[in-house]
Amino acid sequence: METAGKVITCRAAIAWTSNAPLSVEEVEVDPPKAGEVRIKVLSSGICGTDNHTLDGTFPVPLPAILGHEGAGIVESIGEGVSSVKPGDKVILTILPQCRKCDSCLHAKGNCCLKEDIFSPVGLMLDGTTRFTCRGRKVHNNFGASTFTEYTVMHEISVVKINDAAPLENVCVIACGLPTGYGAAVNTAQVTPGSTCVVVGLGGVGSAVVLGCRAAGAARIIGIDINVGKLARAKALGVTDCLNPRNFKKPIQQVVVEMTGFGADFTFEAIGTIETMVAALESCNLSYGVCVLIGVSPTGSQLSFDPMKLLSGRILKGCLLGEYKTKDNIPLLVDDYMKKKIDMDPLITHTLPFVKINEGFDLLRSGKCVRCILLFGDPSE
Ligand code: APR
Ligand code: ZN
Ligand code: ZN
Repeated sequence: METAGKVITCRAAIAWTSNAPLSVEEVEVDPPKAGEVRIKVLSSGICGTDNHTLDGTFPVPLPAILGHEGAGIVESIGEGVSSVKPGDKVILTILPQCRKCDSCLHAKGNCCLKEDIFSPVGLMLDGTTRFTCRGRKVHNNFGASTFTEYTVMHEISVVKINDAAPLENVCVIACGLPTGYGAAVNTAQVTPGSTCVVVGLGGVGSAVVLGCRAAGAARIIGIDINVGKLARAKALGVTDCLNPRNFKKPIQQVVVEMTGFGADFTFEAIGTIETMVAALESCNLSYGVCVLIGVSPTGSQLSFDPMKLLSGRILKGCLLGEYKTKDNIPLLVDDYMKKKIDMDPLITHTLPFVKINEGFDLLRSGKCVRCILLFGDPSE
């Protein structure tokens, strides 16, 4: 393409500080270096983790271009890149698959050691950034900034997908869908006929519901304080809805009484310590499995009586649903296109990219499940 090798000036939403609206302005995006890929972003979801970063509870260094749930088209590639080429449709993921580290070489490991999620530095692996705004260097987000018309990522985090994939939807397969769906089918390994509990029914929790249903769960108990979320979750497959605000006793006690013994599988998809304890205590004490998915505030500590595990309960966590990204995301896209995974109900809103702050308002007010930003004509 004619832009290859040149700096691209385009629009991006900059997070200059936490607890302030994002500022849509012009940025310069450098060409990709060796092993890197520059991508024209066409869609991006707004995920709960972006909100955790903006409210200051997750430590991505600012200023930064946030967003990590994207889909787009490769614009140009750096030296040595072989798995994608200009024009390819791709998903932009936060989780690399380098295929060389201890985690990638293990059959089950998906937390590639090249990740920049757990203690994010917001820079490329060479310690520099490809984004400049008003003369200032701007950090990336988990190596995958998507709130920008163009981004640069490492090849190991860029996933080539089906040429016929609808780019306006499949961005959700970068984070929300695999995070929830995989928690059910890979991490918990939900069994047919089982009883599941999903605490938090936003984009991620709704994807857990889809996974539980696909695995054949007989009963799916959804828990949320937002009545609108409960109603939507019923359409996805939740069989029983609980609003903790309607009960005087802890919600875990309600679940144990409803099920007689506690659920087989429970999932936390919010990110508070209180709801994590509720999820743990909602699964049965003998063979119950509790999976933590929500991102907790930096430095928080989970404390519970260890006897709760000695009886046999299993407490687990997972990242991106335990999927190895380069291997599995293309398959999830194919399953979506074959209608084996019906994730369309997760996408409740779409907005033009420039209305990104309205998208965050929708997320914070609980009015949307997933809001997708679309990057159309720059003149709009
Ligand atoms: N009890 C029950 N439900 C709650 C509570 C609570 N105390 N607090 C919040 N919720 C519900 C909200 O009403 C909302 O429906 O949790 C849901 C959270 O959903 P979103 O904000 O849409 O977030 P989502 O993108 O689904 O992410 C959930 O997973 O990946 C992580 O960082 C992400 O921690 C976040 C979690
Ligand atoms: Zn996310
Ligand atoms: Zn790796």
